[in-house]
Amino acid sequence: MTDRITIRRPDDWHVHLRDGAMLELVAAHTARQFARAIIMPNLTPPVTTADAARAYRDRILTALSANSGPADAGFTPLMTCYLTDQADADAIAAAHAEGVFTACKLYPAHATTNSAHGVTDIFALAPVLERMQAIGMPLLIHGEVTDRDIDIFDREAVFIDRILRRLVSDFPALKIVMEHITTAEAAQYVAEAPANVAATITPQHLLINRNAIFDGGLRPHAYCLPVAKRETHRLAVRQAAVSGSPKFFLGTDSAPHVVEAKESSCGCAGIFNAPFALESYLRVFDEEGALDRFEAFTSENGARFYGLPLNEGTVTLKRTEVRVPDRIGDDALSVVPFHAGETLGWRMVD
Ligand code: DOR
Ligand code: ZN
Repeated sequence: MTDRITIRRPDDWHVHLRDGAMLELVAAHTARQFARAIIMPNLTPPVTTADAARAYRDRILTALSANSGPADAGFTPLMTCYLTDQADADAIAAAHAEGVFTACKLYPAHATTNSAHGVTDIFALAPVLERMQAIGMPLLIHGEVTDRDIDIFDREAVFIDRILRRLVSDFPALKIVMEHITTAEAAQYVAEAPANVAATITPQHLLINRNAIFDGGLRPHAYCLPVAKRETHRLAVRQAAVSGSPKFFLGTDSAPHVVEAKESSCGCAGIFNAPFALESYLRVFDEEGALDRFEAFTSENGARFYGLPLNEGTVTLKRTEVRVPDRIGDDALSVVPFHAGETLGWRMVD
């Protein structure tokens, strides 16, 4: 049995680091495990300009230097532009050329946390998408329709049929990442799509199905968007992750909310998985007998898709028991992590 695994330093291609005190609490967890991360722009107000992205990047780096040791010195936040109906192709292209924006994030309006300013009609943004296609700038999609008459468990599959197929055909060279896929439909669509279409996969969608949200009572810490689906979908997403296909890569969608915002009559969507993200993913690859494919998923496929160099350096995980704390933070600001109270079988050691 393999008891240690050393991989090239990985990247997180989808994370929410928030701002202010929450940023200070969570950023070091991501920087400890990952060399780079795609930073989601759904702040209040959203990150829509190069100036806002530069300032946010500085706040992230300041939070890290205040809080963490030298091991985190190499962390690079990759910033994204939150698309709105007013998005401007010239401004976005200029910020991309300057290295400020790595990608653009498409939130359909009202799809999820802080998406009220999101896009109402993606096809009205054709000039922006054409420019992104021309300059090789990836479009990162929260792929759910928001129509209230569509069942919440069907929103991703309907998005693929109504929106994604047309996007891929109208912009055949646009790099598209279908973020946090949760369904067999998405896994199959992406696997069969052209090479410029890829997907990120979260640990929770590999490890829980929708029963987890209702396990003996309402479980707000198992609630995220897209919501976990039935078991057949979890198994399909797992197969995609461990398949070895270069189209699937790590994106945690770590999305911390203070405990009071989760344990509420209207709890926020989001699972905070950053503290043990690699351990979560490794459990899946281990259970699937796919340890030999772990490194491509964590450290190669995403960088290659984005056209970025692979990281130098390594991280090592050891087979050993580790208990996940019930809370991260203190009384003033406390977040319940994914796997809270559970014992995991792998631990990142250096
Ligand atoms: O569960 C989620 N939480 N899904 C998202 O798309 C957004 C995220 C957040 O920002 O809280
Ligand atoms: Zn997200």
